[in-house]
Amino acid sequence: MASKRGALIVLEGVDRAGKTTQCKKLVEALQQSGRPAEMMRFPDRTTTIGQLISSYLEKKSDLEDHTVHLLFSANRWELVPLMKKKLEQGITLVVDRYAFSGAAFTSAKPGFCLDWCMKPDVGLPKPDLVMFLQLNPAEAALRGQFGIERYETSAFQKLVQQKFQLLMKDPSVNWKVIDASQNIEDVHDNIKSHSLKAINTAERTPLGELWK
Ligand code: TMP
Repeated sequence: MASKRGALIVLEGVDRAGKTTQCKKLVEALQQSGRPAEMMRFPDRTTTIGQLISSYLEKKSDLEDHTVHLLFSANRWELVPLMKKKLEQGITLVVDRYAFSGAAFTSAKPGFCLDWCMKPDVGLPKPDLVMFLQLNPAEAALRGQFGIERYETSAFQKLVQQKFQLLMKDPSVNWKVIDASQNIEDVHDNIKSHSLKAINTAERTPLGELWK
Protein backbone atom coordinates (compact mmCIF):
# COMPACT_ATOMS: atom_id res chain seq x y z
CA MET A 1 0.00 0.00 0.00
CA ALA A 2 1.39 3.40 -0.96
CA SER A 3 1.98 5.60 2.10
CA LYS A 4 0.82 9.17 2.34
CA ARG A 5 3.24 11.70 0.91
CA GLY A 6 4.63 14.64 2.84
CA ALA A 7 3.81 18.24 1.96
CA LEU A 8 6.16 20.71 0.32
CA ILE A 9 5.89 23.94 2.30
CA VAL A 10 7.87 27.07 1.36
CA LEU A 11 8.51 30.25 3.29
CA GLU A 12 9.37 33.35 1.31
CA GLY A 13 9.62 37.00 2.28
CA VAL A 14 11.77 40.06 2.48
CA ASP A 15 14.98 40.01 4.48
CA ARG A 16 14.61 40.08 8.28
CA ALA A 17 10.99 38.93 8.11
CA GLY A 18 11.92 35.91 10.26
CA LYS A 19 11.81 33.13 7.64
CA THR A 20 14.59 31.01 9.10
CA THR A 21 13.32 31.28 12.70
CA GLN A 22 9.81 30.36 11.58
CA CYS A 23 10.99 27.42 9.44
CA LYS A 24 12.81 25.97 12.45
CA LYS A 25 9.85 26.48 14.78
CA LEU A 26 7.48 24.87 12.28
CA VAL A 27 9.68 21.80 11.84
CA GLU A 28 9.95 21.41 15.65
CA ALA A 29 6.20 21.77 16.13
CA LEU A 30 5.41 19.24 13.39
CA GLN A 31 7.92 16.75 14.77
CA GLN A 32 6.54 17.17 18.29
CA SER A 33 3.05 16.39 17.02
CA GLY A 34 4.35 13.17 15.47
CA ARG A 35 4.50 14.37 11.86
CA PRO A 36 7.83 13.66 10.15
CA ALA A 37 9.29 16.98 8.95
CA GLU A 38 12.65 18.32 7.82
CA MET A 39 13.99 21.74 6.93
CA MET A 40 15.77 22.65 3.72
CA ARG A 41 17.04 25.98 2.48
CA PHE A 42 17.96 27.53 -0.85
CA PRO A 43 20.57 28.28 -1.81
CA ASP A 44 21.95 25.06 -0.34
CA ARG A 45 25.53 26.25 0.09
CA THR A 46 26.91 22.78 0.83
CA THR A 47 26.99 21.45 -2.75
CA THR A 48 29.62 22.30 -5.38
CA ILE A 49 27.15 24.62 -7.13
CA GLY A 50 26.10 26.02 -3.74
CA GLN A 51 29.69 26.92 -2.94
CA LEU A 52 29.96 28.95 -6.17
CA ILE A 53 26.77 30.80 -5.19
CA SER A 54 27.97 31.35 -1.62
CA SER A 55 31.24 32.85 -2.75
CA TYR A 56 29.28 35.18 -5.10
CA LEU A 57 26.90 36.26 -2.31
CA GLU A 58 29.82 36.91 0.02
CA LYS A 59 31.34 39.06 -2.77
CA LYS A 60 34.43 36.86 -2.85
CA SER A 61 33.82 36.25 -6.56
CA ASP A 62 31.90 37.85 -9.41
CA LEU A 63 29.58 36.00 -11.76
CA GLU A 64 27.69 37.23 -14.78
CA ASP A 65 24.02 37.87 -13.81
CA HIS A 66 22.41 35.26 -16.12
CA THR A 67 25.00 32.72 -15.04
CA VAL A 68 24.35 33.12 -11.35
CA HIS A 69 20.61 32.99 -11.95
CA LEU A 70 21.00 29.64 -13.67
CA LEU A 71 23.26 28.40 -10.89
CA PHE A 72 20.58 29.23 -8.28
CA SER A 73 18.11 27.23 -10.37
CA ALA A 74 20.56 24.35 -10.90
CA ASN A 75 21.07 24.27 -7.13
CA ARG A 76 17.34 23.57 -6.74
CA TRP A 77 17.25 20.99 -9.54
CA GLU A 78 20.19 19.06 -8.09
CA LEU A 79 18.20 18.59 -4.86
CA VAL A 80 14.99 17.47 -6.62
CA PRO A 81 15.67 13.69 -6.47
CA LEU A 82 16.28 13.94 -2.72
CA MET A 83 13.23 16.15 -2.19
CA LYS A 84 10.98 13.72 -4.09
CA LYS A 85 12.35 10.77 -2.16
CA LYS A 86 11.67 12.40 1.19
CA LEU A 87 8.18 13.56 0.19
CA GLU A 88 7.35 10.04 -1.00
CA GLN A 89 8.56 8.70 2.36
CA GLY A 90 5.91 10.87 4.03
CA ILE A 91 8.32 13.56 5.23
CA THR A 92 7.03 17.12 5.07
CA LEU A 93 9.68 19.52 3.79
CA VAL A 94 9.78 23.05 5.15
CA VAL A 95 11.84 25.10 2.73
CA ASP A 96 13.48 28.47 3.43
CA ARG A 97 13.30 30.25 -0.01
CA TYR A 98 12.61 28.56 -3.35
CA ALA A 99 12.10 29.46 -7.01
CA PHE A 100 10.13 32.58 -6.01
CA SER A 101 13.23 34.16 -4.48
CA GLY A 102 15.07 33.13 -7.63
CA ALA A 103 12.66 34.99 -9.92
CA ALA A 104 12.14 37.97 -7.58
CA PHE A 105 15.82 38.70 -6.95
CA THR A 106 17.12 38.37 -10.51
CA SER A 107 14.18 40.22 -12.07
CA ALA A 108 14.95 43.13 -9.72
CA LYS A 109 18.22 43.57 -11.63
CA PRO A 110 18.27 45.89 -14.67
CA GLY A 111 17.53 44.21 -18.00
CA PHE A 112 15.75 41.12 -16.64
CA CYS A 113 12.08 40.27 -17.10
CA LEU A 114 10.14 38.14 -14.66
CA ASP A 115 9.11 35.72 -17.38
CA TRP A 116 12.69 34.85 -18.37
CA CYS A 117 13.65 34.52 -14.71
CA MET A 118 10.87 31.99 -14.04
CA LYS A 119 11.71 29.73 -16.99
CA PRO A 120 14.59 27.63 -15.58
CA ASP A 121 12.45 26.63 -12.59
CA VAL A 122 9.39 25.53 -14.61
CA GLY A 123 8.59 21.94 -13.63
CA LEU A 124 10.22 21.90 -10.18
CA PRO A 125 8.18 20.12 -7.51
CA LYS A 126 5.28 22.48 -6.86
CA PRO A 127 4.88 23.62 -3.26
CA ASP A 128 1.58 22.68 -1.64
CA LEU A 129 1.77 25.98 0.23
CA VAL A 130 3.88 29.12 -0.10
CA MET A 131 3.74 31.55 2.79
CA PHE A 132 4.97 35.07 2.19
CA LEU A 133 6.14 36.76 5.38
CA GLN A 134 5.13 40.35 4.86
CA LEU A 135 6.93 43.14 6.69
CA ASN A 136 6.99 46.77 5.59
CA PRO A 137 10.44 48.30 5.00
CA ALA A 138 10.16 50.63 8.03
CA GLU A 139 9.49 47.72 10.38
CA ALA A 140 12.22 45.66 8.77
CA ALA A 141 14.65 48.52 9.40
CA LEU A 142 13.78 48.45 13.12
CA ARG A 143 15.00 44.86 13.25
CA GLY A 144 18.59 45.94 12.64
CA GLN A 145 21.08 46.74 9.95
CA PHE A 146 21.44 44.84 6.71
CA GLY A 147 24.28 42.37 6.49
CA ILE A 148 27.20 42.68 4.15
CA GLU A 149 26.18 40.12 1.52
CA ARG A 150 25.20 41.05 -2.00
CA TYR A 151 21.56 42.27 -2.38
CA GLU A 152 21.38 43.47 1.22
CA THR A 153 20.42 47.09 0.59
CA SER A 154 17.02 48.66 1.21
CA ALA A 155 16.74 49.99 -2.36
CA PHE A 156 17.24 46.54 -3.89
CA GLN A 157 14.98 44.85 -1.31
CA LYS A 158 12.17 47.28 -2.23
CA LEU A 159 12.43 46.22 -5.88
CA VAL A 160 12.47 42.56 -4.83
CA GLN A 161 9.32 43.10 -2.77
CA GLN A 162 7.55 44.51 -5.87
CA LYS A 163 8.54 41.42 -7.86
CA PHE A 164 7.17 39.16 -5.13
CA GLN A 165 3.86 41.08 -5.35
CA LEU A 166 3.71 40.25 -9.07
CA LEU A 167 4.48 36.57 -8.42
CA MET A 168 1.74 36.41 -5.78
CA LYS A 169 -0.87 37.30 -8.41
CA ASP A 170 -0.43 33.84 -9.92
CA PRO A 171 -3.47 31.78 -8.84
CA SER A 172 -1.79 28.48 -9.80
CA VAL A 173 0.32 28.77 -6.63
CA ASN A 174 -1.24 28.39 -3.16
CA TRP A 175 0.02 31.68 -1.67
CA LYS A 176 -0.78 32.82 1.86
CA VAL A 177 0.39 36.20 3.10
CA ILE A 178 1.49 36.18 6.73
CA ASP A 179 1.72 39.37 8.78
CA ALA A 180 5.29 39.10 10.05
CA SER A 181 4.99 42.20 12.25
CA GLN A 182 3.19 40.16 14.94
CA ASN A 183 5.22 38.55 17.72
CA ILE A 184 7.12 35.31 16.97
CA GLU A 185 4.53 33.02 18.64
CA ASP A 186 1.53 34.57 16.87
CA VAL A 187 3.29 34.34 13.50
CA HIS A 188 4.16 30.72 14.30
CA ASP A 189 0.53 29.82 15.20
CA ASN A 190 -0.64 31.33 11.92
CA ILE A 191 2.00 29.44 9.91
CA LYS A 192 1.27 26.19 11.73
CA SER A 193 -2.44 26.32 11.05
CA HIS A 194 -1.93 26.90 7.30
CA SER A 195 0.67 24.12 7.26
CA LEU A 196 -1.56 21.53 8.94
CA LYS A 197 -4.25 22.16 6.32
CA ALA A 198 -1.68 21.81 3.52
CA ILE A 199 -0.35 18.56 4.99
CA ASN A 200 -3.86 17.09 5.07
CA THR A 201 -4.57 18.12 1.49
CA ALA A 202 -1.20 16.87 0.25
CA GLU A 203 -1.96 13.39 1.58
CA ARG A 204 -4.80 13.15 -0.94
CA THR A 205 -3.25 14.91 -3.96
CA PRO A 206 -0.27 14.11 -6.18
CA LEU A 207 2.75 16.40 -6.16
CA GLY A 208 2.38 19.06 -8.87
CA GLU A 209 4.83 20.76 -11.24
CA LEU A 210 5.62 24.42 -10.67
CA TRP A 211 4.51 27.03 -13.26
CA LYS A 212 3.39 24.36 -15.76
P1 TMP B 1 20.08 33.54 2.52
O1 TMP B 1 20.99 32.35 2.44
O2 TMP B 1 20.42 34.47 3.64
O3 TMP B 1 18.63 33.20 2.47
O4 TMP B 1 20.43 34.46 1.30
C1 TMP B 1 20.48 34.05 0.00
C2 TMP B 1 20.51 35.28 -0.88
O5 TMP B 1 20.38 34.85 -2.24
C3 TMP B 1 19.36 36.25 -0.63
O6 TMP B 1 19.80 37.57 -0.83
C4 TMP B 1 18.36 35.89 -1.71
C5 TMP B 1 19.24 35.44 -2.84
N1 TMP B 1 18.65 34.43 -3.73
C6 TMP B 1 18.66 34.64 -5.11
O7 TMP B 1 19.12 35.69 -5.58
N2 TMP B 1 18.18 33.66 -5.93
C7 TMP B 1 17.68 32.48 -5.44
O8 TMP B 1 17.26 31.62 -6.22
C8 TMP B 1 17.67 32.28 -4.01
C9 TMP B 1 17.14 31.00 -3.45
C10 TMP B 1 18.16 33.28 -3.21
